[in-house]
Amino acid sequence: MQPVTKILTDIVSAAFEKCGYDGKLGAVTASDRLDLCQFQCNGAFTGAKQYKKAPFMIAEDVAAVLREEGIFSAAEVVKPGFLNLTLNDEYMLKIVKEIENDEFCGIPQAEKPQTIVIDYGGPNVAKPLHIGHLRSAIIGEALKRLARACGNTVYGDVHLGDWGLQIGLVIAELNERYPDWKCFEEGFDPEKDSVPELSPELLCEVYPFASKKSKENEDFKAKAHTATFELQSGRPGYIALWKEILRVSIADLKSNYSKLDVDFDYWYGESDADKYIPQLMKILEDKKLSYESNGALVVDVAEESDKAPMPPVIVRKSDNSSIYATTDLATIIQREKDFKPNKIWYVVDKRQELHFTQVFRCARRAELVPAETELEFLGFGTMNGKDGKPYKTRDGGVMRLSDLIETVTDASLERLASSAFVAEEDREDYARKLGMAAVKFGDLINHRSKDYIFDLDKFMSAEGKTGIYLLYTVSRINSIMKKAGDAKSELNGIYTEAERELMLKIIMTGNAFSYAMDEKAPNYVCENAYQLAVSFSKFYHENNIIGEQDEAKKASWLALAKLTRKVIVKHLDILGIDTVENM
Ligand code: ARG
Repeated sequence: MQPVTKILTDIVSAAFEKCGYDGKLGAVTASDRLDLCQFQCNGAFTGAKQYKKAPFMIAEDVAAVLREEGIFSAAEVVKPGFLNLTLNDEYMLKIVKEIENDEFCGIPQAEKPQTIVIDYGGPNVAKPLHIGHLRSAIIGEALKRLARACGNTVYGDVHLGDWGLQIGLVIAELNERYPDWKCFEEGFDPEKDSVPELSPELLCEVYPFASKKSKENEDFKAKAHTATFELQSGRPGYIALWKEILRVSIADLKSNYSKLDVDFDYWYGESDADKYIPQLMKILEDKKLSYESNGALVVDVAEESDKAPMPPVIVRKSDNSSIYATTDLATIIQREKDFKPNKIWYVVDKRQELHFTQVFRCARRAELVPAETELEFLGFGTMNGKDGKPYKTRDGGVMRLSDLIETVTDASLERLASSAFVAEEDREDYARKLGMAAVKFGDLINHRSKDYIFDLDKFMSAEGKTGIYLLYTVSRINSIMKKAGDAKSELNGIYTEAERELMLKIIMTGNAFSYAMDEKAPNYVCENAYQLAVSFSKFYHENNIIGEQDEAKKASWLALAKLTRKVIVKHLDILGIDTVENM
């Protein structure tokens, strides 16, 4: 289905044409004054200049045609030339029924479906997953589901940081601790020799230790750099050890992401781009883009219109190792080869914007993708603590994602302890779902580019714009349905104002989705879900659904409640939020 304003725009445009005016004047938008009308069209003002006629007269001509359409309860002209529109109940009901029967739940489908690669998650192997990676996972997952729900083909790629200095640090440290492991010997033979199994605990402990050590000890730092370089050059013992590090690390990452209900189609890492680096270097050289500067190989990416200095991008360091930008450029070659995407979206901390500007410009100059392929950086802000500084553990350290999940689950368990609704055996599962709903909604309700304050008490509140409020609304509808048993449910009319308001919200859902998709901003989906819940609440409080004696009315109200639930659940699903039966 198309968004309702698009359907109305087509009708109003035809009316403009019928009166001899340009159809383009017929753009319809949602009204911001619901007390006056539901929709409006301001085309008569533009028309006035074009036709040298008072806007009022143009609007009157058009309104007269629209009144004949039989879909408006009011098509009014307000001086000096506003066209205010309100749908009649019959037409509202028709659209609501269409949404009820639509397999996409009223979400507008892309006219030209696109292939989109979303690069999100971005965890680093061997380093613990910390809360900095939480936003990328939550926002990226929501964008993936949103783009898919709009009919596009979407691939989510975790883009593991599995090839950088952190691995060299871990290798160097393990070498110092366990010098007699075979993998550190020159003659290591992967056919015959093996690497000892690493424990997740050891891996967790080694990286922070080695990272600290490298800051205090120049020798050790040099060793880690050498190890990184040798790994990247394919030293067999290091490759074998690296594979073991990957095995342990990825298992841990997968378990954390599955707790978040975040799931990737591809688990590619930076290392998978490695084989495209020679091709990248050749393209840069053939196109005469790369040149030597202080021993490194760089590409200029500055443009005349730049207001701030734009440093050249380094594609190879003086020690011959390749770096972050090189990997991202090579990954673009890989994605173009594997997916031929129309768009690649990068859901990454906004502090990396300069890096991506450099990478994209270099990719354009080198023509790594066709000119029409969109490369877009979707930067996100920081999750702060109540003190306004990046969220930390009590003792000031970086919070691990697994600890955060635990904290949140514990907080919801505490709340559930007093709930009479939730059976003992469901508590764990409920606690996880409630916790995730609180955290995800608390994040996604903010425009992704903004910083926000992580306030668990606020996020867990059953009132206001929270995930809990939405789960609560769904569970309330569940209990209405349970009470209704097999009572008839069928939309057959509009009986009260609260109902009309709720239906309008349902009708406007298509608009919210197309806006969210255009802006790549899941916060519009959150906002719309919240609006639906508020309107439902009003409808529920003003009408006694279960106790209603009029059969037809009751049937219509039950159907409306059911549809509201379906639409809200769809919103939540796109946000990556699971609902619970009862709470
Ligand atoms: N691993 C990186 C980090 O932790 C994020 C990766 C983002 N994606 C990318 N294509 N560079 O900062």
